[in-house]
Amino acid sequence: MASSAIRSFRGQSNVTAMPGAASASNVRGTWIDAFRAVRGETERRAAPLSDEDQVIQSMPDASPTKWHRAHTTWFFEQFLLLPHLPGYRIFDKQFAYLFNSYYVAAGPRHARPQRGLVTRPANSEVAAYRMHVDTAVVRLLNEAGASQIAEVLRILEIGLNHEQQHQELLLTDILHAFSLNPIAPTYDAARIPPAPKKPASGLVAIPEGLHSIGFEGEGYCFDNEGPAHQTYLRPVRIARSLVSNAQWLDFIADGGYATPSLWLSDGWTTVQAEGWEAPGYWRKVDGVSHTLTLAGLRPVDPAAPVCHVSYYEADAFARWMGKDLPTEQEWEVAANAGLIDDAFGIVWQWTRSAYAPYPGYRAACGALGEYNGKFMINQMVLRGSSHATPADHSRSSYRNFFYPPARWQFSGLRLVDYGI
Ligand SMILES: [Fe+2]
Repeated sequence: MASSAIRSFRGQSNVTAMPGAASASNVRGTWIDAFRAVRGETERRAAPLSDEDQVIQSMPDASPTKWHRAHTTWFFEQFLLLPHLPGYRIFDKQFAYLFNSYYVAAGPRHARPQRGLVTRPANSEVAAYRMHVDTAVVRLLNEAGASQIAEVLRILEIGLNHEQQHQELLLTDILHAFSLNPIAPTYDAARIPPAPKKPASGLVAIPEGLHSIGFEGEGYCFDNEGPAHQTYLRPVRIARSLVSNAQWLDFIADGGYATPSLWLSDGWTTVQAEGWEAPGYWRKVDGVSHTLTLAGLRPVDPAAPVCHVSYYEADAFARWMGKDLPTEQEWEVAANAGLIDDAFGIVWQWTRSAYAPYPGYRAACGALGEYNGKFMINQMVLRGSSHATPADHSRSSYRNFFYPPARWQFSGLRLVDYGI
């Protein structure tokens, strides 16, 4: 997937990291439960979608639901079962070509922009593929020997985190497809975007000086979250609140989308080429601004955080406000200090940090080393998480990343002010 990546493969045994791990069998059972829970969540997210919904690909960056379900399954088959389960029977030899995403070391693969042309295998065959792999993974977790269980669990944990990333993409991708449907389908009427947890408030100072950022300690992280290191922050104040639709409506009313001086050159070119006049998925209904959400077409709520804006738009808005986007370091320090509201669970927040390796970062060897490191160019970092991010899949060191024009993710922003 085009989002975050895997941890530095320190080879630590998660057998000993599990809470309450009184015995080896308990540990295995806990991981089997975790595996079933994550796999089940993918299916729950796909359940409201018809077979037709699940095959569509609305743009090259988005993938069909059926592909997400199959690709996450291939990941376990390729990286966990084939190397570690003796005698494992591949479900279908053609699936590696169809459902490998970008792992060059794992072999040739189908062209990404053409995933929506794959009407076969049918959804029912993908469901059978998932069951076949699920059964084998549970068998492996039960039968792995003492000498291999640590490595099995390490790969399993990567696979689970990988699948959780695709769970969010499954929703963002189908919402993009629905946005192109004139009847504006509803994915799930109950999935109303959450409101801010606290009323809008002002700016708060981040202490000047050296701060630690990056992942440290127990638990899982992707490799791009390290190595942890110190960074110097100059005096700055960060907005406690996310930028709201009310603020964005003011930006639009003030000609924000028609004022070239507010935009980066590439951003202005994109505005012109795409005809952008508002955030993604906004449309007028009887003269009133509406936005397409997972819960269907809803009037734009002025109090809600703005969503589906690109980096270019976030940058232009900050310039219009006479402020800036935070760096990812400022964001992480502020989040760790509890200075900002709604850091998680509503919208990802653009930072003005280019997605680059931390000092000392090295991608791991082998195919799984392709997960993150090779994408560290030409993209911008987003921090936090969105309402589509699975539970237990967000932390202050998490680095999401997308290209500057992308706005089909649940992406918003908050601002900083250096005019202390
Ligand atoms: Fe993936």
